[in-house]
Amino acid sequence: MCVPALVRGRAFAYCWQDDGRGAPNPSKHVVTPDVISKGAMGMAKISLAGFKDPVRRPRFIVWTFVVVLALAAFVIVMLGATSTRWFCADVCHKVQDDTIAAYNASSHAEISCMACHEPVNADTFTFLIAKVKSGLEVIPTVGNTFSLPLNPGSALALKGGHEMGSQQCTQCHSANRKVSPDPGLIIDHKVHADAGIWCTVCHNRIAHNDAAVAPTLVAPNGTKNIVHPNFMQMKYCFRCHDLEGNIKMTGIGAKAAPGTCSTCHPAGFELKPASHNAADWASAAHGDEAKKILTEMGVAGEEAKKLEGEGIAPYLAAPVNECFTCHIEAKFCKTCHDRLKVSTATTTAP
Ligand code: HEC
Ligand code: HEC
Ligand code: HEC
Ligand code: HEC
Ligand code: HEC
Ligand code: HEC
Ligand code: HEC
Repeated sequence: MCVPALVRGRAFAYCWQDDGRGAPNPSKHVVTPDVISKGAMGMAKISLAGFKDPVRRPRFIVWTFVVVLALAAFVIVMLGATSTRWFCADVCHKVQDDTIAAYNASSHAEISCMACHEPVNADTFTFLIAKVKSGLEVIPTVGNTFSLPLNPGSALALKGGHEMGSQQCTQCHSANRKVSPDPGLIIDHKVHADAGIWCTVCHNRIAHNDAAVAPTLVAPNGTKNIVHPNFMQMKYCFRCHDLEGNIKMTGIGAKAAPGTCSTCHPAGFELKPASHNAADWASAAHGDEAKKILTEMGVAGEEAKKLEGEGIAPYLAAPVNECFTCHIEAKFCKTCHDRLKVSTATTTAP
């Protein structure tokens, strides 16, 4: 037996056998009495003796039918419910307040959460796993036991795969689109796509720019939300790009990415950052800034270990020292520091 269901404009059929005699439908997930009786993984076994006894058989069939219907109804309701904006925005209300405030201020505010947060053209199994996962996320929210921050270190954007890769974005965005970056910036989308780099490696906060809409949420256990890193900054380009042309990437598609200024900036672009205009930049100020960066990197380094634990490549997880996106330590910093016998605090050497 099948019933049609509509989930976000896509038609699905939910099928099951009505009494164990109907033909199985291998193309869709099938909830059958067979599955229940044998146990999906050969585990629990429900006796079929009731079917064999002509007196108990009608009752048995009715109850089997009720159980199967209830299961099917549950799956259908969860599929529908977890796809609605109501589910995302209202059921998970508290825990996602900050995320949704940033979404409402973004260029994608008119787009369904599901366009980005659902596997695209995935097989039924992957799709259902994703649904069950988002269904389970409700438990800590309703039970008020959730903890913050959500998605620290931007694990979601860095994992790629079916949960958040290029395929979500390319439902709407085409490679044919001629990109018009900000003046002063050069970007080549094709070379990155060819190297297997997906959109959110760079555009991670496209729908949730929490730097623009500051997070305010505090969890019941006192933990707080954070402003996530936004990978559309120069230092995050240097997770792969390198001033000396070293290969930082690993894995399939790994390539050297050039770090010379003219790779990403056209002639005439002001190459000296505003910070450098401080009167004492060449003495005290740059040292203070360099030390501040080292402290921040210590914190980010702890996060990087957790990201690596989740299977994210170390080159994408590791923090980047901003100073070394424009200066080669050995060739630039050391010319003064070796002479001054003052450590740059980045290495053990003076
Ligand atoms: C244009 C695509 C897009 C849309 C639309 C979108 N998101 Fe996201 N969302 C993302 C990306 C990309 C990330 C990963 C961010 C990261 O890892 O830095 C994310 C992350 C999140 C997170 C993890 C917390 C965080 O801030 O990183 C939550 C929760 C979330 N989204 C909920 C929603 C909800 C609810 C909606 C709809 C109201 C929505 N998203 C709409 C792309 C989108
Ligand atoms: C359902 C369609 C849809 C999906 C999915 C989608 N976008 Fe968009 N995107 C749009 C539209 C429409 C615009 C233009 C919005 C406007 O100009 O008001 C846009 C604009 C943009 C812009 C330029 C505006 C800005 O804020 O910088 C970027 C960059 C972008 N999208 C990246 C992404 C990325 C990355 C993803 C995947 C995580 C994604 N989009 C997913 C439809 C979509
Ligand atoms: C290596 C980093 C990187 C990757 C990967 C990347 N982009 Fe971009 N993208 C950029 C940069 C940088 C800009 C220019 C932003 C600016 O000017 O502020 C940009 C601009 C855009 C724009 C705005 C175009 C305009 O004319 O305003 C869109 C849309 C966009 N990207 C979509 C995508 C999509 C879709 C993907 C994945 C298929 C993707 N990008 C992958 C770095 C990247
Ligand atoms: C995940 C790794 C990675 C990140 C992050 C990354 N790039 Fe790249 N980029 C590459 C690789 C690899 C190449 C070289 C591809 C090749 O040679 O085919 C490249 C090449 C380029 C080129 C073309 C260079 C040329 O000589 O034609 C530009 C421009 C560029 N990147 C800009 C950026 C910008 C801007 C950012 C940050 C917003 C960025 N990239 C972030 C990996 C990356
Ligand atoms: C792989 C691409 C890439 C390369 C190579 C690159 N930049 Fe950038 N740069 C960016 C991006 C993206 C931005 C804009 C985002 C931001 O503000 O961080 C930027 C912004 C800047 C800015 C303005 C923001 C600030 O920090 O004040 C300066 C100055 C700058 N770059 C200087 C340089 C110099 C000098 C070099 C060469 C040593 C260089 N860039 C090489 C990608 C690159
Ligand atoms: C033009 C010469 C010069 C260059 C180039 C230079 N420094 Fe320095 N640096 C100094 C001077 C002078 C001091 C102040 C020494 C003092 O306070 O006794 C200093 C101080 C520092 C300090 C503070 C040391 C401390 O113990 O408080 C750090 C950290 C530092 N520099 C890092 C760097 C880094 C990183 C680079 C390269 C990106 C760099 N410096 C390039 C001259 C230079
Ligand atoms: C976005 C690029 C960029 C970044 C990031 C950057 N610098 Fe620079 N820096 C420059 C440029 C360009 C110059 C001037 C040209 C030169 O001397 O090479 C310069 C010059 C300097 C000088 C020499 C100043 C003088 O008057 O002699 C010092 C010292 C210095 N930087 C330290 C640092 C430190 C420390 C950091 C990290 C906190 C840093 N820079 C980050 C681009 C950058």
